Amino acid sequence: MGILPLTECLLSQVSTPPSSIEMENLIDAAVANRLPDIGRLVSLPQTTFALLSLLMDEKTVPKDLELVLCQDPALAAKVISLSNSAFYGLQTPVSTIERAILIIGFKELEFMAMGLGLSETIDMTQVPSGFDGEGLWMHCLSVSWIARELAILTKAAEPSEAMITGLLHELGIIILVSKFPLQFQQLLEMVNAGMSFFDAEAALGLKHNIIGYLLARNWNLPEVFQEGILYHHAPEKSPKHKKVAAIVALADSLAHKVGFSMNMEALDLDLPYILKTIGLKVDDLQEFIKSIMNSIPQVQPVWLKMMHLGSSKKNSLAKNRFSSLITSSNKPSHHKKNT
Ligand SMILES: [Fe+2]
Ligand SMILES: [Fe+2]
Repeated sequence: MGILPLTECLLSQVSTPPSSIEMENLIDAAVANRLPDIGRLVSLPQTTFALLSLLMDEKTVPKDLELVLCQDPALAAKVISLSNSAFYGLQTPVSTIERAILIIGFKELEFMAMGLGLSETIDMTQVPSGFDGEGLWMHCLSVSWIARELAILTKAAEPSEAMITGLLHELGIIILVSKFPLQFQQLLEMVNAGMSFFDAEAALGLKHNIIGYLLARNWNLPEVFQEGILYHHAPEKSPKHKKVAAIVALADSLAHKVGFSMNMEALDLDLPYILKTIGLKVDDLQEFIKSIMNSIPQVQPVWLKMMHLGSSKKNSLAKNRFSSLITSSNKPSHHKKNT
């Protein structure tokens, strides 16, 4: 038995999140060593961090959001543009953040700003051939939306926490695809040869939930997001945030079912455990699936617009800033397998 399965076996028995040193034993050494650099060089925009702290504060009022967004005029302009999407059916176009908040609502604008912030940060146009970068974004946005709707329906978690955890749950895949294209290409080749995605990533030491968790820790994101990312495929293992992890796991599975699968298989979930944890009946789940299926044609254009508005901000300066990092990631790893 190599290091990987042994460490994984030990970790499955602990009740608290493992230390980053233990975690790093589970991922390719080349990837683990470069994550702190990536954490420093690739960061969510300041505006996104400011919005995160507003989200966590119950005393936040719409005016606070307005003040933060007004400090980032480019983001504010995009939020206004999204607000004018046909989805919202406005009779008169909105032209100011103040009016957008009034008409669209505080939470809707948070979702837009967070989605735009993430898509501005990571360039998904440089993805390994054969991988659907847009499909990955659409998956993350759909999981974010479904998680929020589930949280509203069940009241098992704060909708904003479920929403952001859903948006970030595949952070590890986003980083692998955008910063470790050669390693990810190797993973795809194993999948194309018939291996499951989850077996291939484990064999290569590229477990996306662990990579995402380590990056979220590096960014000092709230613990609920860190745990939600780490346990989105095994919410029962989450020590402190089982309900959020369960909501995101279910939203992930539903996104696969309703067509936002990024061409990957979904892992089997312990559905009875999840439904019990979030207090949802099977019949209500069926109704919920019908309602999201009905809403998708309306919300999907908003996600597409959000994705394209976000990527349009990337400029040559940002690309130059990260180019050395990206170039170094293109060197083949000597740690192809940890097993
Ligand atoms: Fe995942
Ligand atoms: Fe997912």
